Amino acid sequence: MDEPFIERLERLEKEAIQALSGVSDVGALEGWRVRFLGKSGLLTEELKRIGTLSAAERPRAGQLVNTLKKALGEAHGARLGVLVADQQKAQLSAEAVDVTLPGRGLGVGSLHPLTAALRRIEDIFAALGFSQASGPEVEDEFHNFEALNIPAHHPARAMHDTFYLLDTHLLRTHTSTVQIRFMENNTPPFRIIAPGRVYRADAPDPTHSPIFHQVEGLVVGEGIHMGHLKSTLHTFLEGFFERPLNLRLRPSYFPFTEPSAEVDVSCLLCQGVGCRVCKGTGYVEVLGCGLVHPAVLTRVGIDAERFSGFAFGMGVERLLMLRDGVPDLRLFYENDLRFLRSLR
Ligand code: DAH
Repeated sequence: MDEPFIERLERLEKEAIQALSGVSDVGALEGWRVRFLGKSGLLTEELKRIGTLSAAERPRAGQLVNTLKKALGEAHGARLGVLVADQQKAQLSAEAVDVTLPGRGLGVGSLHPLTAALRRIEDIFAALGFSQASGPEVEDEFHNFEALNIPAHHPARAMHDTFYLLDTHLLRTHTSTVQIRFMENNTPPFRIIAPGRVYRADAPDPTHSPIFHQVEGLVVGEGIHMGHLKSTLHTFLEGFFERPLNLRLRPSYFPFTEPSAEVDVSCLLCQGVGCRVCKGTGYVEVLGCGLVHPAVLTRVGIDAERFSGFAFGMGVERLLMLRDGVPDLRLFYENDLRFLRSLR
């Protein structure tokens, strides 16, 4: 066998081993494999060259090339193992998670205090046998005023600071509208509450907002009287405020009730002793109510000789302000999380 062949193989081996030691990633290793072991690589070239040797030399030459090929193949496998292991190690340490770090927290949401209060009010009345009714927020003058005994030019209209839309439509100023809509479509006896948004053209201040929430109540049946009204409200208010309360019905005036009353409860802050919140009177006003005016019943086709009823209306924000000592009604709409979290 000519020396140059063996020498070349030795040189090739050295070169390959040296090159392999400089390979530092899987991509470069593949380049190395193509160069030395590939189909048209350097070793294949040597294999081809065997054909130029004498017949006596060929077996030995073939053996040498194959041995080298096997050795380089094994060296390739070993290097690949090392590189893959290195790569995994690097990846693992780059993606390492420090399980001792504090968690990010889920930021679980909760109901807005007004929504929670509305649900609570609904639950209490549901337990008293009341079902729920609703009506549109865009109303007509008939349902917001006339049917409730508030004709045009009645002074009560001026108290309502109404947002008018077009000529005859408006944003309802109270949920009493739902009394009319419900009675137009149902025959007594019934007990309903109607929670909802109402609108008044008031400038926002600590006790006013152009939009707020009311819950209306209406009970109509045979023989309904003030005693039913008072006991219903007493039960509701003690349930809502979660404490025993003294109730006081003060004579008042609403066009749609006769007699009408405003309901006071013993002051939630001083329990009736007299303080800043109740202005020393020991009582705070919580809602308006009365017996449904016979003219209102008659207008919606209910026989006022046979049936009587009571009604009440309350401001949800006001109840919450009293219960939780919220000093400014606007806080309910500003969505400052510190405030929202301070209420339950
Ligand atoms: N609608 C009245 C208001 O917004 C509240 C009210 C008072 C409703 C007496 C009633 C009631 O049903 O009987 O000021």
